[in-house]
Amino acid sequence: MAKPKSIFTCQSCGAQASRWLGRCPSCEEWNTLVEEREVPALKLKRAGGATKKAPPPQPIGELQAATEARYSSGIDELDRVLGGGVVPGSVILIGGDPGIGKSTLVLQALAHLSKRGPALYVSGEESPQQIKMRADRLGVKAPNLLVFSETHLEGILEQARAIEPVILAVDSVQTVFTEDLQATPGSIGQIRESAARIVNFAKRDDLACILVGHVTKEGAFAGPRVLEHMVDAALYFEGDRGHPFRILRAVKNRFGSTNEIGVFEMKQDGLQAVENPSALFLAERPVDVPGSVVIASVEGTRPILVELQALVSATALGTARRTTLGLDHNRVALLIAILEKKMGLQLGGHDIFVNVAGGVRIDEPAADLGALLAVASSFLDRTIDPQTLVIGEVGLAGEVRAVGQVEARVREAAKLGFSRCIVPESSRRQLPEVPKVAVDGVQSIQQAWDLLL
Ligand code: TYD
Ligand code: MG
Repeated sequence: MAKPKSIFTCQSCGAQASRWLGRCPSCEEWNTLVEEREVPALKLKRAGGATKKAPPPQPIGELQAATEARYSSGIDELDRVLGGGVVPGSVILIGGDPGIGKSTLVLQALAHLSKRGPALYVSGEESPQQIKMRADRLGVKAPNLLVFSETHLEGILEQARAIEPVILAVDSVQTVFTEDLQATPGSIGQIRESAARIVNFAKRDDLACILVGHVTKEGAFAGPRVLEHMVDAALYFEGDRGHPFRILRAVKNRFGSTNEIGVFEMKQDGLQAVENPSALFLAERPVDVPGSVVIASVEGTRPILVELQALVSATALGTARRTTLGLDHNRVALLIAILEKKMGLQLGGHDIFVNVAGGVRIDEPAADLGALLAVASSFLDRTIDPQTLVIGEVGLAGEVRAVGQVEARVREAAKLGFSRCIVPESSRRQLPEVPKVAVDGVQSIQQAWDLLL
């Protein structure tokens, strides 16, 4: 059989060339040409295994919903992020920095899933012996878990066809290559083609599939975002390697919400689900120290309490530094400007560092008021009552705006022994009585300031 011909397609404008070029002649973008296999027109029609004729358009009321069969991975936090478990025939991409625990998570999940039938774990990064060592460490004893060290796509699919596993995991998709392309393994063209063929295979055979992917420094999956488009769910495993906590977050999920997160702790014997993340994130909190404020962030359906820390110190030389970890840098810059303008703090000659303790990342405006007060508290060297929780979005005029799910946040605070919550006044009005905790509503940062500083 003749080898399929390659063409080079610009990922930005779609122009095609017969050889690789550094710059697209059409849109003049650099490094956008990617090698692809040329598919003859006849074959293209049947790609994806769609050999049957598609049914004619039907009224939506008469359609049958797909039966919601899901397999539990045995890891509650993973199941929750997936929207209730692994859907057969779905492809899940798990990304994260090297060493964060992707292989560990996948091995633990596969061990449980292999109770339903054979599970095939393909590793292009580790030898079977290395995988065995890890499995021993995790205490995994799964007779149906098959381990295969291979990077050759055709070889992987051949085994998958022969074994017919309930789930196939490929760790990592960057190591897989197909001989149909001349591009080197790890190149964008190879990743794309390999992932596309694995996805095709999974869909046709109704096989659940997990692809592990490395992420680039910018935090996206290596290989352009094409991988995210191809799969049904894309999860990121994040955390700080200096901390044992790991957070699994969905950025895309065709079978569930993308708001849910899973919290894990990396232990000696693998990843352990964290049932009470708030208690864990607050465990090492210093008490009665200026610059420390506890806020409640809602991730999916769960409120999580975390500590925000700020340090404000006089700038020794040159321009003042502004460093944020775990919060949006621009958001913090805006809050600092509001503090200067509305509260008259002279922060210009000061370095300001703001950090979310525990290596967590918070994207919610509900953290605004807490971050602002933490900076003020450190600057004034006055402590904020450690038994008080602060929630609220701050507007440019210094007003405190309503945030969602205040009741869940206040209840979580009460559960952890907090005695007081500062919330936006408009949210407080809708709040039912929560036992054991006093709730104060504020309309402006001035009011919050008067109550706490
Ligand atoms: P790994 O799953 O190999 O990460 P990835 O596949 O994302 O690169 O896990 C890497 C780290 O986790 C490694 O540095 C050791 C640590 N680890 C534990 O602390 N406990 C364990 O039980 C295991 C298996 C790994
Ligand atoms: Mg790995």
